[in-house]
Amino acid sequence: MAEPLAHGADAFAHEPELRQAILELRAECARAKRIAVMIGAGASAEVGVPTFRGAGGLWNGLRAEDLATPAAFARDPLRVSTWYAERRAKLAAIDPGPAHFALAALERAVTARGGRFLLISQNVDGLHRRAGVSSYVDLHGTLLLDRCTRCAREHAVDFGSPRELPPRCAACGALERPAVVWFGEALSPLDWERAASAASASELFLAVGTSAVVEPAASLARLAVAHGARFFELNLEDTLNSANAQRTLRAPAGAVLPLLV
Ligand code: OAD
Repeated sequence: MAEPLAHGADAFAHEPELRQAILELRAECARAKRIAVMIGAGASAEVGVPTFRGAGGLWNGLRAEDLATPAAFARDPLRVSTWYAERRAKLAAIDPGPAHFALAALERAVTARGGRFLLISQNVDGLHRRAGVSSYVDLHGTLLLDRCTRCAREHAVDFGSPRELPPRCAACGALERPAVVWFGEALSPLDWERAASAASASELFLAVGTSAVVEPAASLARLAVAHGARFFELNLEDTLNSANAQRTLRAPAGAVLPLLV
């Protein structure tokens, strides 16, 4: 008899290839001592956070150049901070979902057997933290914090409370911006170093819900493969990194990740 996927409830019984790939990924998750997982917007899509590309994506009808660049903020700080305040207000009503909790469970399982786990997130929503993941790098920054454009003081933002826009630093009075990485800005060298080291050292590299169009984040999967990792991709559709993957799983993140631990 085929190995059951989860408590006998085998949602993928009618998709044998996918089912087989899930079993392989589950075996890798149980075996590998060093696991790096890269997540993108697709990991949060099921709980209602819009993706960037594709139908309903944030960059459909809006231009990243008008909202997510230093030049856009310099030109129109009110417009940019209003857009971020709207994203934060929506996030205030959203909780982590099965994909986020499953990643936290995977981390616990790997660390409990003495292994190393790092979640490399391109998402700025902080839902992975709220689900209990403790080893993570927010490669594109976080919406949870604002940073002063002059004194660099950072502080937590309460998504639920409206405030005057554009926000100003309580310490020095200069404009504050979200602590995210905008197009044209460099990633934090420390975050990049952590992510690249984990990718290079990983035995298993899993990419979940990312279109792999934004660099250098997308290059981490290739870096992992170049250093001998097994690379699995979980996404609804093909991406620019699919050709580099040992296995591609075409399924929703929230349906597959909970089956892995
Ligand atoms: P994208 O919007 O580019 O891609 C989302 C991916 O998630 C697509 O490949 C979808 O097929 C997939 N997807 C959607 N729903 C899914 C589900 N339920 N399960 C599995 N996969 C699903 O988002 P990112 O790749 O994260 O950068 O975008 C990368 C960067 O571009 C973002 O971090 C942001 C953006 O501009 C910055 O802000 C710097």
